[in-house]
Amino acid sequence: MTAEHPIPAPVVPPVVRPRRLRTTPALRRMVREQQVHPRQLVLPLFVREGLTEPQPIRSMPGVVQHTRYSMLEAVEEAAELGLGGVMLFGVPEEKDAEGSGALDPAGVLNLAITDVVGEVGDQLTVMSDLCLDEFTDHGHCGVLTPDGRVDNDRTLSVYAQMALAQAHAGVDMVGPSGMMDGQVRVIRSSLDALGHHDVGILAYSAKYASAFFGPFREAVDSSLTGDRKTYQQDPMNAHEGVREALLDIEEGADLVMVKPALSYLDVIRRVRDAVEVPVAAYNVSGEYAMVEAAAANGWIDREAAILETLGSIHRAGADVILSYWAVEAARLLTA
Ligand code: PBG
Repeated sequence: MTAEHPIPAPVVPPVVRPRRLRTTPALRRMVREQQVHPRQLVLPLFVREGLTEPQPIRSMPGVVQHTRYSMLEAVEEAAELGLGGVMLFGVPEEKDAEGSGALDPAGVLNLAITDVVGEVGDQLTVMSDLCLDEFTDHGHCGVLTPDGRVDNDRTLSVYAQMALAQAHAGVDMVGPSGMMDGQVRVIRSSLDALGHHDVGILAYSAKYASAFFGPFREAVDSSLTGDRKTYQQDPMNAHEGVREALLDIEEGADLVMVKPALSYLDVIRRVRDAVEVPVAAYNVSGEYAMVEAAAANGWIDREAAILETLGSIHRAGADVILSYWAVEAARLLTA
């Protein structure tokens, strides 16, 4: 056989042609299996005490630490676009070993909750991070024992009080993200004991000790040295993620969350198949930063990557997605 005179290979024409359904944009759109809807997107927002101007977060281009005022503009926009909700994080001016700013009714996060609920409480689900890492000077998600370990049970009693402070501020749903054993049960019973039966719990159930939280630590001015491996899960464990989700439901979680999202699509799917409550996933700071950095270099089609990212998290089984792209994605999805 030579290149000039190839022997024609016998071609058996395919009987089944999946490409037929990909022929036109209209047909592709018609047979698309699923798509995220803006109502399923939740925008995480950072509000920093004492700021007079929004402050860009270097490692998350396009995301800022808000002032109390700029945060209200951001939530208005989120409401106009029909997002599902917002998740609020507070960055206090002063941190201490016990994270006492978290309990202070005049603390940055509690004030922000009241502001946001006042502004858009009738249109969005207002959620707040329930964790101590933004408030502690050592940066851990709980209080420490004298020898420097994270004290699970003493942390639980702080979480119980923190939940009450947030409920009192008017939050719709608290998001315990500290991975302490028993946190959902303690928070549920503390809320119920004071009549806050309607305040929900979005439990960060399967939260991994992930490298993809890197940029977030700048966003909350974290002072953490070391890691969170004694409380956040080993990234290689999927059964354990399902176990944590089931436990949280038993303890009273209304939604369970898997976090991060992209490296854990299998865990999202497994949790979705194992539970009967809505499943959320957190498209975290490092996932955001990777796409933004590649796009800034011209290495990736940014908008397509955003929609593919969120679409794949949804396809894996997430009913609700927390994403720094929530506003922009809502625009793209309704364009
Ligand atoms: C803990 C918390 C973290 C994130 C959300 N809640 C950081 C951590 O556990 O280290 C990370 C979110 C992100 O990376 O986008 N309060």
